[in-house]
Amino acid sequence: MSSPAIVAEGITVRFRPLVDRRPTLRRSIGRMQHRVTEEITALDNVDLTINKGEAFGVIGRNGAGKSTFLKVMAKTLRPDEGTINVYGKTSTLLQLGVGFNRQLSGRRNIYLGGLAAGLRKKEIDEKFDSIVEYAALGEAIERPVATYSSGMFSRLAFSVGMAIEPNILLLDEVLAVGDEAFREKSLTTMRGLLRSKGTIVFVSHALANVAEFCDRAAWLSHGKIQSLGPAEDVVQEYRTAVHAGKA
Ligand SMILES: Nc1ncnc2c1ncn2[C@@H]1O[C@H](COP(=O)(O)OP(=O)(O)OP(=O)(O)O)[C@@H](O)[C@H]1O
Ligand SMILES: [Mg+2]
Repeated sequence: MSSPAIVAEGITVRFRPLVDRRPTLRRSIGRMQHRVTEEITALDNVDLTINKGEAFGVIGRNGAGKSTFLKVMAKTLRPDEGTINVYGKTSTLLQLGVGFNRQLSGRRNIYLGGLAAGLRKKEIDEKFDSIVEYAALGEAIERPVATYSSGMFSRLAFSVGMAIEPNILLLDEVLAVGDEAFREKSLTTMRGLLRSKGTIVFVSHALANVAEFCDRAAWLSHGKIQSLGPAEDVVQEYRTAVHAGKA
């Protein structure tokens, strides 16, 4: 029997984007109706259990709710309904690097990202050299992160994210932009995490990577799980639906 790492029950997330409140007559008459129709249900009563030692993929169209789900797992977003239980130390690598400041150097951002992930300054001091070595950015580590390519940025984010030695790694398109050498290196690191009963949730549009790397996957569609099962099967089902114009 495998033990759970993440248990989501009845997760619903609604967004109410701010409506343009310019006081036109049409708007003031239509306001009530306007607000109701603007509500977006990003996740709709989602149940999912992800186990320890599992690499789990999340796929689906733009706007399907994938990143929203990852934020709920990372507890950076509280669902409107439902409960989420996460068993282990989580490291979140969302696309933009949590806690990073693009105007500052890579070096400074290792500290910012590390602190945001819950490390103490002393711990970052100790791990600093290995983070720099892993990211392999050379002298670019002294340059503002704003000057990095997206692949360089994701190298830094991944290196900082792994430095907290997580049990659970949440990845949102982080590896899609890394080059072949870094992809291999990070895959080796992730396989090590899985061997030690860690858990990886991998959100990606790179379907071949999901099929190859993940054990199981979920296809999200309009905030609901459309399909859940072995990653290769779910990827195939999604591909077929896309080609048939049904996804
Ligand atoms: N902060 C927000 N405010 C309002 N609406 C939001 C917010 N974040 C997400 N949404 C909406 O929620 C829905 C799901 O968005 P989400 O970012 O989870 O999609 P996604 O599956 O990650 O898409 P992509 O593949 O483009 O990354 C979309 O309709 C999006 O517009
Ligand atoms: Mg997203």
